[in-house]
Amino acid sequence: MVSRVIPVAPFDLVIFGATGDLARSKIIPGLFHRFVVGQMPPEARIIGAARTDMARQAFTVMVRDSLLEFAPQATMDKNQLDAFLKTLNYVCVDASGDTGWDALAEHLRADAIRAFYLSVSPVLFGTIAAHLSAHGLATPDSRIVVEKPFGHDLASARALNAALRGSFEERQIYRIDHYLGKETVQNLMALRFANALWEPLWNSTHIDHVQITVSESLGVEGRGEYYDRSGTMRDMVQNHLMQLLCLTAMEPPSRFAPGAVRDEKVKVIEALEPVAQADIVRGQYRARDSEGSYREHAGDPQTLTESFVAMKINIGNWRWAGTPFYLRTGKKLRARASEIAVVFRDPPHMIFPKMEGRRGNAMIIRLQPDEGITLRNTIKEPGPGGFRLAEVSLDMTFADVLGAHTETQDAYERLIMDVIRGDQTLFMRGDEVEAAWNWVDPIIMGWDEARLVPSLYDAGSSGPEDALMLLHRDGRRWREIETNA
Ligand code: BG6
Repeated sequence: MVSRVIPVAPFDLVIFGATGDLARSKIIPGLFHRFVVGQMPPEARIIGAARTDMARQAFTVMVRDSLLEFAPQATMDKNQLDAFLKTLNYVCVDASGDTGWDALAEHLRADAIRAFYLSVSPVLFGTIAAHLSAHGLATPDSRIVVEKPFGHDLASARALNAALRGSFEERQIYRIDHYLGKETVQNLMALRFANALWEPLWNSTHIDHVQITVSESLGVEGRGEYYDRSGTMRDMVQNHLMQLLCLTAMEPPSRFAPGAVRDEKVKVIEALEPVAQADIVRGQYRARDSEGSYREHAGDPQTLTESFVAMKINIGNWRWAGTPFYLRTGKKLRARASEIAVVFRDPPHMIFPKMEGRRGNAMIIRLQPDEGITLRNTIKEPGPGGFRLAEVSLDMTFADVLGAHTETQDAYERLIMDVIRGDQTLFMRGDEVEAAWNWVDPIIMGWDEARLVPSLYDAGSSGPEDALMLLHRDGRRWREIETNA
């Protein structure tokens, strides 16, 4: 299958925080890939903006070095690399002061799409938005892109929304959750809404429960200080896992368009029932072998911040009443593996002898690595000697079935091109973010008030023991986290 690339219109993309890690490792390499495949037109301009005073030439050298490190193609195609570097410019801007804005204005063209990407601390979102507006840089058609964390709680998220909306309209604001840019996450929508097969089964009559797992093998080394102020609930659950849950649980939107899709996601979040503390397990990794503990990485021997969360969630609506969603995510687990497992109910009446260890029908949507879909079925075990059942998987690993087409884009590449196209479908709307915080806040407050001590788990394990109990007590069990070995 050959991938079709439709070039976007010429644009001026201003990246605030252009010398930072995210810009160097994701945003600029992503743009380079889009350039190489012909989606980013050569007339497009990328304008780095940061506090550091440096010449265009120095910025170009920095970008080239980043590409050589983070974009393997850059080492292979020198002509493409040189052509891409020609699209760059740099302006020294003091985000919270008055210098640099007029110089930035000189780089912007009246007839190109204009986007401002704020890859900076959220404390600067409002200030930068206000400067863009005050200096006449924000046209009615300009877009502004912001990164997570979008708030620390409901109050701070509201304040950020108000600050952005002081200078931009909601239709111009693109809040990134990079999980929405992942290929398989979008495939979840295709799977549900482009096939007639699943929708009749996609409800509590046929689905016993859903497990959403985002397991990471890395710890918080290097960013422990930031992470310790956040914790897994804020860093992963409020945003990434919430998005996975919404896409799995939402009603079919009337069309694949920003308003319709986001309306349905908000309805799911608003239908989430409050979670009892007994339905949540918080964990923190302890040292194993030479690897440090969370506390060492966070630089605080007393910290109570969690590096793991598992929880049981009930969605209070007609489709899902009686079908729990179990979520788990954590750092320093035994493998990097993310999946959504939809586990179906047993047949109403079994005519065959009981099969030991039968797990039943399930659809497993693997987000990473080895993206694909597996359907677990029960068949007759081949061979003579009585009628025995066996479980087999129908496996659709995208790399095998789609071949070259799976040289997919990184999430950032897709999302940036959507910004240029003016498509907000895969971005979070202001009310959606606030609804998510509204649900998460009481949980975190409960922990803080009780000074709840997280359960310790070994680095490299599957998480704390009590996380297993969360399902065992309901007569269910987690799927094994694959080791990818
Ligand atoms: C980020 C979190 O948003 O997502 C990180 O801040 C986390 O803590 C990362 O590691 C996970 O992203 P991915 O794409 O590697 O699954």
